[in-house]
Amino acid sequence: MRAVDLIRKKRDSGEHSRDEIDFLIAGYTRGDIPDYQMAAWLMAAWLRGLSSSELAALTEAMLYSGEVLDFSDLPGKKVDKHSTGGIGDKTSLILAPIVAAGGLTVPMISGRGLGHTGGTLDKLEAIPGFNVNLSLEQFRHVLKECGMGLIGQTKEIAPADKKIYALRDATSTVENIGLICGSIMSKKLAEGIDALVLDVKVGSGAFMKREEDAVKLAEVMIETGNRMGKKVVALITDMEQPLGSAAGHANEVIECIDVLNGGGPPDLRELSLELSAWMFYLGERTQSVEEGRRLAETMIASGHAKEKFKQGIRLQGGDDRVVDEPHRLLAARSRVDVVSPASGYISGTNCERFGIALAILGGGREKKEDAIDHAVGLQFHKRIGDRVEKGEPLATIRHNADARLSEAKDLIMENYFIAQEPPSGKRPLIRRILGA
Ligand code: URA
Repeated sequence: MRAVDLIRKKRDSGEHSRDEIDFLIAGYTRGDIPDYQMAAWLMAAWLRGLSSSELAALTEAMLYSGEVLDFSDLPGKKVDKHSTGGIGDKTSLILAPIVAAGGLTVPMISGRGLGHTGGTLDKLEAIPGFNVNLSLEQFRHVLKECGMGLIGQTKEIAPADKKIYALRDATSTVENIGLICGSIMSKKLAEGIDALVLDVKVGSGAFMKREEDAVKLAEVMIETGNRMGKKVVALITDMEQPLGSAAGHANEVIECIDVLNGGGPPDLRELSLELSAWMFYLGERTQSVEEGRRLAETMIASGHAKEKFKQGIRLQGGDDRVVDEPHRLLAARSRVDVVSPASGYISGTNCERFGIALAILGGGREKKEDAIDHAVGLQFHKRIGDRVEKGEPLATIRHNADARLSEAKDLIMENYFIAQEPPSGKRPLIRRILGA
């Protein structure tokens, strides 16, 4: 078999056999197939799509590119959550400590920033010393000690996703149902979990812009998980505007600490509680989702979730003092407001552009090897439906360099939409729940 023939086959809308998919994934993971050939195949797959049998073969080839973990010696159920990604989407840092404090084990394998969205690993690395590259043995030790561990794909766990994820990020081959399913489910199925809660984002800041595509993505991921014997639920949630008020790395960590302290923006708090509630329920820690929600609230109110977060940070080599003293996190040197060009009501946003503005400021990657500036960020002051006056701040930019500041400012200003009338109807944060 030759990679060049498989690229041509997909380019010409052919359907791959399982052996062909195995050849591509194993060859690329080993380093026999170079980046340029894999990039060409990814673009062909993005354009032509993957059939359901190709998708199943891809997910399994990616899963078995590394080890499938077994934590059955650790007590209790193992549960996780994964989001398809958005702007200000930071719930992992909140719900891992809530759920671990509530008695379940959360072995979380996450990703870095992808496309215009931020990544959990990059956010965690805003905490001085935090190590997301644990060996398998270290990961097991951390989970045993505190019930939560957050790491990236490694040479041992989901190595195919580690390489393909970074390549997709740099080649605009992210927003594709088959490729997203393969990426997410290969990581999650490698974790040795019993149950998984998926947060499938829909809207201008998500990879799926239309609800029917988000539902389709949720359905294929649920089916893939169920086929492997896992309980899976998917919440389709709103990403027409940023989640919470902060985007960036250090300032998202601060917002997570606010929620663990019992505060934080209402939408972020609400979604974190709902996702935690489903994790408790699927992990059989509670009899119902409602009871799971009450347990999540108790974990915050009692301070147990916050203490768990500190313990998790310490065990992964981070400086846990940031939780009580957030000023220890890196802060950007300068700040500037983006003001409204008109008076009216916020009728919508194209929030994907906010993610691009953040990347331009240094908070995202354009090439695989780019470093991230964890201190830069955006603070959003207006939400859809809010009244705004001309000249009033829509958002604040925290930055370290002026080079592309005006480009970032324009991107933010132009992508808040202002109308004379307030938008009609309520915006549900959670649009649908599937697989329940
Ligand atoms: N999250 C992932 O882990 N992979 C994707 O492809 C998209 C979101």
